[in-house]
Amino acid sequence: MKKIRIEQGDITKLDVDCIVNAANRSLLGGGGVDGAIHRAAGPELLAECRTLHGCETGQAKITRGYRLKARYVIHTVGPVFSGAAQDAAALASCYRNSLDLARAHDIHSIAFPAISTGVYGYPLEEAVPIALQTVSSWLDEHPDYALTVVMSCFNQRACDLYTEFLEDRPS
Ligand code: APR
Repeated sequence: MKKIRIEQGDITKLDVDCIVNAANRSLLGGGGVDGAIHRAAGPELLAECRTLHGCETGQAKITRGYRLKARYVIHTVGPVFSGAAQDAAALASCYRNSLDLARAHDIHSIAFPAISTGVYGYPLEEAVPIALQTVSSWLDEHPDYALTVVMSCFNQRACDLYTEFLEDRPS
C-alpha cells in the first residue's frame, strides 16, 4: 500500500488526522500556508499557539485543529534558505520531528506542505528530495507504525517534482 501520496490543492481541505503548518518561530501566524491554516482553523488555533511560547527552527509542536477537518495541526519551523549546509539538516529535522510527534499522538495520516519553499526561499528542486528522503527513511525505520503521508502541493511544479522524485524511489 502506497505510504506516501501526492495531492495538489489546499492542505486545509484535506481529510487527514493531522496537517503540518510551515510556521515561523513565533507560532503566531503569518502568510502563506500558515495564514491559510489559521484562517481555516479559526481563532482558537492562535489562542492555543500563544500558550506554546514559540518554536525553534527544525522543531515541531502540536495543537488541536479546531474548525479544520484535521484533528491536529503540527507546527514546524523550516530554515530560511541561506545556501549553508545546515539548511538541509534543519529542513530534514522538520519532517522527522513532525513524524515523531505524530506517532506520539497516535496519528495515522498526516499532510505536509513543501516546508520553507515559499517565503523562506528554499528552492523546490532541493527541498523536495530532502522531504521525500526524510519521510521515506522514517517510514522504513518504523515499519510497524501505520502512517499515510500526503505531500500537499500548492502548484503543478511542486506536484511534478514530488512525482518525479517519488518515482525514482521505490516506496
Ligand atoms: N496548501 C498547501 N500548500 C500551500 C498553501 C496551502 N493552502 N499555501 C501555500 N502553500 C505552499 C507554498 O506554495 C509553498 O510551496 O506551502 C509552501 C510553503 O510556503 P510558505 O507558506 O511561504 O512557508 P515557508 O516558505 O515555510 O515560510 C514560512 O511564511 O507564512 C509565513 O508565517 C510563515 O513566517 C513564516 C514563513
